Amino acid sequence: MTDAPPPEYKGPKRVFSGMQPTNGLHLGNYLGALKNWVALQNQYDCIYCIVDLHAITIEPDPKGLAGRCREVAAAYMASGVDPKKSIIFVQSAVREHSELAWIFNCVARMGWVERMTQFKDKAGKDEQRMSVGLFDYPVLQAADILLYKGTHVPVGEDQKQHLELSRDIAQKFNNDYDAPAFFPLPEPLIQGPGARIMSLRDGSKKMSKSDPSDMSRINMVDDAETIMQKIKKATTDPNPLPESAEGLKGRPEVENLVGIYSAASGRPVNEVLSEFGGKGFGVFKPALAELLASELGPIAAEMRRWNADPGALDAILRVGAERARAIAQPIMAEVRKVVGLWHA
Ligand code: TRP
Repeated sequence: MTDAPPPEYKGPKRVFSGMQPTNGLHLGNYLGALKNWVALQNQYDCIYCIVDLHAITIEPDPKGLAGRCREVAAAYMASGVDPKKSIIFVQSAVREHSELAWIFNCVARMGWVERMTQFKDKAGKDEQRMSVGLFDYPVLQAADILLYKGTHVPVGEDQKQHLELSRDIAQKFNNDYDAPAFFPLPEPLIQGPGARIMSLRDGSKKMSKSDPSDMSRINMVDDAETIMQKIKKATTDPNPLPESAEGLKGRPEVENLVGIYSAASGRPVNEVLSEFGGKGFGVFKPALAELLASELGPIAAEMRRWNADPGALDAILRVGAERARAIAQPIMAEVRKVVGLWHA
């Protein structure tokens, strides 16, 4: 007798993604995530979360946390995430995230979570001194997605392993509780050409807000002059740009700049190279800087507008949380029943 394949999930398609409330969002966040989120709004029902519960796994910041949530919400909307189409909300406003995370803690196996490389990277040599929450971070992430029965999750490469864990948790829950296809097995939508934006100074490191040099990144709020300066100073080599993508091998900094141009313009790398191949960086860099300034300028202006009106922003997040709860609460009620939790 052969095992029948698990029954397929029949529910609606739903996109879920989130970002931590950090200040100093940069081009990597924009091209690597937000720009794709915006595009997905026309194809799917999308839920975009600001994950403040994840933010407290590393260090407390009770005075700054809400402000950082607002800043990220402003960046979502300034980038084109439309609160009329998509749900935008702050994670901790929907208490069920924490509740489902606990249940998933009892589904996920130690061995699965111990394998997560992001924890090892973040903890380094200090594993024993990290919070239990940091270790548990990917289980909460699974709860984020599955609380809405999310089916598609736009994330960068670095989150693929967390998505695999989410699928393992969903599958084990469905099996253990004899609830076939209760949860979908969420799939990553690995984000387009902008998925890996690297440091302007070192093509082997991701562009990051924690890099001590501000010259290594373009911030979403940088003005045209700053962008020009940073791009001009970006590490390259003395050779002209190659004529085709193969010529980018072994030139990570050049590959990064061309990738940024491609992601920002929406034109494939080969097309960019057919325009700039054979030309020097004296031509390419100013063109890139202008492209970025024209794309980021209006977004930065929108961010400033939102940041000046926290009341309007909070109203949007309040409505977002209500809409999120309207989806999450019935699902959580089903989960409680399936698990057999007290309901008298
Ligand atoms: N861990 C994600 C990151 O660092 C953020 C995140 C939290 C997330 N919960 C999520 C992403 C749910 C997608 C879905 O990028």
